[in-house]
Amino acid sequence: MTEFDASRWANAEFAREYRDNAEVYIIERRRLLAILQSFYINFLNDGRHKAMLDLGCGDGILTHEILKIDKSISVILVDGSEDMLTNARERLNAFKNLHYIRASFQDILENELLGRNFDFVVSSFAIHHLTMDEKQSLFNKIYAYLNPAGFFVNIDVVLSPTDALEQWYLSLWREWIEEKKLSLHIQGNYYDAIARRYKDNTDNKPDTLNDQLNALKSVGFKNIDCFYKYGIFAMYGGKK
Ligand SMILES: C[S@@+](CC[C@H](N)C(=O)[O-])C[C@H]1O[C@@H](n2cnc3c(N)ncnc32)[C@H](O)[C@@H]1O
Repeated sequence: MTEFDASRWANAEFAREYRDNAEVYIIERRRLLAILQSFYINFLNDGRHKAMLDLGCGDGILTHEILKIDKSISVILVDGSEDMLTNARERLNAFKNLHYIRASFQDILENELLGRNFDFVVSSFAIHHLTMDEKQSLFNKIYAYLNPAGFFVNIDVVLSPTDALEQWYLSLWREWIEEKKLSLHIQGNYYDAIARRYKDNTDNKPDTLNDQLNALKSVGFKNIDCFYKYGIFAMYGGKK
């Protein structure tokens, strides 16, 4: 069994539960997506044809947000879960130039599966499933796959640098979920289950924002920054 097959994401019910509730789980998910769109408009949307890679694409939400701005892009969407790829295909069936690959990050690291270069590499809430060494190797690989002046943006959960900050960030998360529950009329003690699932799941290997920014720097990325952060939720990236 591969590492991905042993993870909870290989379970279709687990994946469905995430798709149904991601707006509740993820603080400011809509804003994160709006910032990603703004990034694309500012740095990539110059009228020339672009190629994008969506790593750990899930149901294709990031690709969909970019396609709303630029229908001409070619995209390779990669995920370890066939179920997620099926959902991505359904969601994006009105668009052209999309290519789906079922592969784990480990497959991507060990093989040359993609067969082309990209102007934009994006990922959301997937890279935290890798160890720091694997993240570093993936950043290296992404850098190699990028065209000159291409960009990488990752939206993900990050490890808090201290326990005190972690406690605060988790209370911000609780507040967000309680607010969302009220607006969506959801009952029950949702936060405890979500926080436990996040903290106790050994599939989750978040590293600090600083360690990840330093890893990008050591690979050769420029213009590295954190573009948004709210508690444990962050968006960061850089330019080749
Ligand atoms: C939290 S979901 C995020 C999906 C989507 N990017 C989003 O923002 O909604 C994490 C995704 O990463 C995929 N994934 C997790 N571990 C992976 C691995 N080792 N290799 C490839 N995909 C993986 C899962 O199948 C899932 O679709």
